[in-house]
Amino acid sequence: MSNGAPSGRDSWGTRAGFLLAAVGSAVGLGNMWRFSYVAAEGGGAAFVLLYVFFVAFIGVPLMTSEMVVGRLTQSSPVVALRTLGGSGWIWLGVLFVMCGIGILSFYSVIAGWTMRYAVDAFRGALPADTTSYFASVATGVPAIVTHVLFMGITVLIVTAGVKRGLERAAYALMPVLFLLLLGLALWAATLDQGGGGYAYYLRPDLSELLNPSTISRAAGQAFFSLSLGMGALMTFASYLRTKENLGRESAVIAACDFGVAFISGLVVFPIIFHFDLGAAIGLGGAVTDNTVGTLFIAMPAAVASLGGLGQYVIGAFFLMLFLAAVTSSISLLEVATAAAVDGLRWTRRRAAIVFGLLITLLGIPSARNLNFLDFLDKFVGAFLLIVGGLLTCIFVGFRVLPQAEAELAHGLDDSRARHLWAVFVRYVAPPVLLFVAGFSLIAAIAAFRTWIAS
Ligand code: PHE
Repeated sequence: MSNGAPSGRDSWGTRAGFLLAAVGSAVGLGNMWRFSYVAAEGGGAAFVLLYVFFVAFIGVPLMTSEMVVGRLTQSSPVVALRTLGGSGWIWLGVLFVMCGIGILSFYSVIAGWTMRYAVDAFRGALPADTTSYFASVATGVPAIVTHVLFMGITVLIVTAGVKRGLERAAYALMPVLFLLLLGLALWAATLDQGGGGYAYYLRPDLSELLNPSTISRAAGQAFFSLSLGMGALMTFASYLRTKENLGRESAVIAACDFGVAFISGLVVFPIIFHFDLGAAIGLGGAVTDNTVGTLFIAMPAAVASLGGLGQYVIGAFFLMLFLAAVTSSISLLEVATAAAVDGLRWTRRRAAIVFGLLITLLGIPSARNLNFLDFLDKFVGAFLLIVGGLLTCIFVGFRVLPQAEAELAHGLDDSRARHLWAVFVRYVAPPVLLFVAGFSLIAAIAAFRTWIAS
């Protein structure tokens, strides 16, 4: 095997540890509220169908491709792409690193809010007027403070390494997250009028199936949620020493990610209908553009109005968001960190701290202006991920297919399955992604205009 891993390179302790960490990367703020929100806007069950299509036919083959490259080269993306593809492909690796930095810069701001909400809710200090509460914690100095704290946590975990940092965090946090999610879904099922919520969430508005903007939103959401298009899972797979079936691992990760997103909808929608928050968050009426603020305002106020138990429910909800955010943010920082460790021979500690500081600084504009945050979300968090995914498919499908297929064969000996994978990577994903990239660029430009005008 042409396996150039330096002998001291960190690696996962167990297969379960790798899977949990990868699921932890995928399951994040994207699943918890972004999914239910876009699903409701995008025609309920019709959106879910489109989403499943992207996850299964584009997401899983692409995730497999990313992991194949990572495991084959045992290096982080920049070095991996150069090793396999020559120096011209370095730029794709650099794009990955920049996406990781760009996403984490605003992701950490939102994660900071969840931290603040969770702490205040458990202290019983969540005020009834969540509109002004949100305004005061989500921007300006308080937002910068929680953003800095959150980045501090992220840097600490990444500094500790793959086995002792990322894997341990996944083992500790993911089970708690799953329990909180199930508990909340059960609680939501006891709410009266909740049935209307399920019905709204899953109503099949089939006209949306052909709406290009809904299609591209489903794609963008799938990429963001599965952590695709920016080398996160490529980096994770570069720490794999064993030859598991990467096709199966991708399917497991994608299924868990979808499961969590779907169940989150089962939490959010009964709450919205029970408390009659539809109008407040824009469902049915003019849909507000501020998808970030809505669930941070309407829902906490309503649930907290139940008194003691309500505060704990809200506390649990935001604690869950916070845990999900931590296990994702560490994978975002890991991409840049690993690139500097492998490519520049920095120590892990130095890389994590330098990039952590850089991201902390870059996050400040998002903590001051939500329109900028929204723009970054649409530009980096959707458009650039789709571009990254498209280029990855071209790289794997047309530049290094024989090597990639040989690597995939370690663990996946069914040659028909490998052939099918190659067909999807070469001929299905690229045209679909090209189409979707166009629409997501339009959305990003609109967000840019809104930011400039604000
Ligand atoms: N998948 C994470 C979420 O849904 C976000 C993320 C994107 C993490 C890209 C890593 C890479 O919140």
